[in-house]
Amino acid sequence: MVNETHQLRCTGCARVIEQQALRGNFRCEACGDLYEVEYPGWSAGRNEERSQATRPNPNALRWLWRERRASTAMEDQSGVWRFREMLPIVKSDASIVSLREGNTPLYPLRRAARSTGVERLFAKHQGMNPTGSFKDTGMTTALSVASEMGFSWVACASTGNTSAAMAAYAARAGMRSLVLIPEGKIAWGKLAQSLDYGALTLQVKTDFDGCFRVLSEVVERAPVYLLNSVNPYRLEGQKTPAMEIAEQMEWEVPDHVIVPGGNLANSSALGKGFLEMKRLGLTTRVPKISVVQAEGANPLYCSMVKTGGKTLEPVAANTRASAIRIGNPASWKKAVRVIQETGGWVEQASEAEIALAKAEIGAEGIGCEPASAVTLAGLKKLVRQGRIAREESVVLVLTGHTLKDSEYTIQYHRGKLLGEDEAAGMEAEIEATRRNTIELEAAADNVLRELERASR
Ligand code: F0G
Repeated sequence: MVNETHQLRCTGCARVIEQQALRGNFRCEACGDLYEVEYPGWSAGRNEERSQATRPNPNALRWLWRERRASTAMEDQSGVWRFREMLPIVKSDASIVSLREGNTPLYPLRRAARSTGVERLFAKHQGMNPTGSFKDTGMTTALSVASEMGFSWVACASTGNTSAAMAAYAARAGMRSLVLIPEGKIAWGKLAQSLDYGALTLQVKTDFDGCFRVLSEVVERAPVYLLNSVNPYRLEGQKTPAMEIAEQMEWEVPDHVIVPGGNLANSSALGKGFLEMKRLGLTTRVPKISVVQAEGANPLYCSMVKTGGKTLEPVAANTRASAIRIGNPASWKKAVRVIQETGGWVEQASEAEIALAKAEIGAEGIGCEPASAVTLAGLKKLVRQGRIAREESVVLVLTGHTLKDSEYTIQYHRGKLLGEDEAAGMEAEIEATRRNTIELEAAADNVLRELERASR
């Protein structure tokens, strides 16, 4: 028996199972690959009569989704559940755990548009979510499922944002949360959130990949629901920014969408969203989805260059963009599929390129955390390589808020972030974006002197 509205298909061997048959680590029992949620009611085919009955009508949906923005109901105000016809995964709306996530802005990036020559350049700012990162969109869906299934504990291994989001949503639902983070390797803002929202927070003497390995064993031995992005219900929420982008662009999707790559689930979630919208007739095409990794945590980049995405060698990850400091990404095969299906690219960015791009996004009055800035760094390279043409429209997905990692930002502006060798060749550009604080005695004359100097 398969659940009425959705089923789970293994992305490796195509085996279909029901929700209750999912193992605690979300891996297929037969081939070890990950599952994805699918909605049999949407496909035409043998069961034609049923398909007609359950397949949503695109015009009605567009109208309904817009109407809901004026509603006061929690599930309508949420920028995830507003699109709930695209993710019928909970049995009752009463199970929904929400912090009014989603509905994030799409900002034109005017300065970056001038410097890259890409006139129609936008930032979809997922850092404007309730806990300051894109993780909220997936946490509301997976945690609602966990709550409906009757779990009292949820858990994740994290570089900081997943744990912040999970802890907040678990607290809202009255559930307990268990966080495994790599010791000393996450930004303070994120650690503070986990503590504030009441998670049992374990700093484990290993990296993210080690934390994930340990937790995978824990969930096999204890009744704890895993909320890492191997959980297919996370991706159902994380696909909704695709619907928002389409709506914000009057249902004309952009030519390119660029996302940072860490554990590599978000790229595939957005791809799934765009592909499903096209399938349902909401849009007529799908953007190219490109992924950018940090040079020091680039297993997907290496895999594409060396084997065309056929195999992936884990790397020992090291980057100051700690959110994407991941060497053995769980969802790499899903990411490869979406990149190849949409015709996108994979790029990498150096520490200096990331830091400069972050400062440039900050200088637009927008700001983001280091991991998000790889998107602008990657765009510059893809334009130089002729892979993105200047007349095309591009959306950069900014995954986290600038306040997540203020230490990084302050070190950059103090000129203490990058080593000389790292900044070599980029000194002038970096210098032009630096804004350090100035200490002075308390007198108006001193302030006026600085004002005059800065106005020259
Ligand atoms: N950007 C930010 C700000 C992130 O926190 C992450 C992942 C990513 C990008 C990469 O997304 O893993 O889907 O490729 N952070 C996870 C965490 C791993 O634990 O918070 P991905």
